[in-house]
Amino acid sequence: MRIDGTAYRTIWPEEDGSIAIIDQTRLPHDFSVVRLTTLDEAAHAIRAMLVRGAPLIGAAAAYGVALALRTDSGDAGLEGACATLLATRPTAVNLRWALERMRARLLPLPESQRVAAAEAEAAAIADEDVEINRAIGGHGAALIRAIAGRKAPGEPVNVLTHCNAGWLATVDWGTALAPVYAAFEQGIRLHVWVDETRPRNQGASLTAWELRHHGVPHTVIADNAGGHLMQHGKVDLCIVGTDRTTASGDVCNKIGTYLKALAAHDNGIPFYVGLPSPTIDWRIEDGLRQIPIEERDGREVSELTGRTADGRIETVRVTPDGSPVSNYAFDVTPARLVTGLITERGVCAATREGLLGLFPEQA
Ligand code: MRU
Repeated sequence: MRIDGTAYRTIWPEEDGSIAIIDQTRLPHDFSVVRLTTLDEAAHAIRAMLVRGAPLIGAAAAYGVALALRTDSGDAGLEGACATLLATRPTAVNLRWALERMRARLLPLPESQRVAAAEAEAAAIADEDVEINRAIGGHGAALIRAIAGRKAPGEPVNVLTHCNAGWLATVDWGTALAPVYAAFEQGIRLHVWVDETRPRNQGASLTAWELRHHGVPHTVIADNAGGHLMQHGKVDLCIVGTDRTTASGDVCNKIGTYLKALAAHDNGIPFYVGLPSPTIDWRIEDGLRQIPIEERDGREVSELTGRTADGRIETVRVTPDGSPVSNYAFDVTPARLVTGLITERGVCAATREGLLGLFPEQA
C-alpha cells in the first residue's frame, strides 16, 4: 500500500539484515518504522502488538526464526526459537502454521545452510501472503459488485467491518479489506462502517487510518451501533477477518464479531469472512470448545489512550478505582451465522464440505 506516495509492506528485510516493521501501537498518531534484530525483539513485537493481525503475526514469527538462527543455528536454537515465538499469542493459528513450516524446512538442513534458508522461507511466506490476499480481494470484489448492481444508481454499497483486517493486519492488501480495496480500484461506489473495536480500537485507529490514506469513504462508529444501522437498511454486507477458522467453518475473530454476526443474521444481511488458507485450523471442528481465547491485560479495558489537542499522547482511566475488569480478546462466530468464506481459491459455504471443495488436498 502507498503512504504519502511511498509503497510499503508491513514487514520487510533491510540490507543490514534487520527486519523492519511499522509500529502499529503508535498509529494513527505516528508512522514509525522499527528494526528487529533479535529473537527477543521479534517475540516482543508480536506479544506487545507492534505487529498484529493473524497473517502478519505468522510472517513476523517466520522472520523471528531467521533472526534467532543467526545466533544459534543448531537444533536447540531452532526449537527454542519456535517455542518462544509460539508462546507470544495463543489464538491466531497462522503463528503455529508459520513456525511449523519453518521448522519442517530448516530441521533437515545442515546448520551452515539454515540462516539463508530461513530468510528465504520467511520471504516466501510474506510474498505468498500478498498473493493470497490479492486473490481474496478479487473474489470478494465480485460479491460487492453483485450487490452494487442491485442498488439505486449512485448509491454506495455499505460494508461493515470489525477490527482491522486490512493491509496492516497482513503483509499487504488485507483479508476483509482486500475486497474493499479491489472494488474501490474497480470504480464501485462504496462506503465502509468501521467498528471502533474496543478495547484496543483497531478499527478506529488502524482501519480508519488505512481507509483514509487510500481515499475510501468510511465512517467510524461505536461498537454498539452496527445493529441499529442494520435495522435501518444502512448496511448491505459485513466482511470481517479471522484469526482461526475451524475445518467446519466456525470463525474466531476479534471480540464482538459474534454480536455483529447475530445482528446481521436477524436482519438478513450477508456476513462474509475473508479467510486466507493458513488461517484454517484443519485439526479442529468445534470453535467454541477448541480455540484458545487470548485474555489480555485489563488495563486495555479500564484505560483509554489518545492524542490531546496539543499533540501529547495520554492515557486516562475510564473505570472506577477498584472495579474488576476482564479482557477477552476474541470470540467465536458459529458457522451457521456465516454466509460465506472468501478464500484465495474462491467463495465457499462455512462448512466442512464447502472448505474441502476448495481445498481437496486437506481431505
Ligand atoms: O488482536 P489483533 O489485532 O491481532 O486481532 C486482529 C483480528 O482480529 C483480525 O480481524 C484478524 O487477525 C484477521 S487479520 C487479516
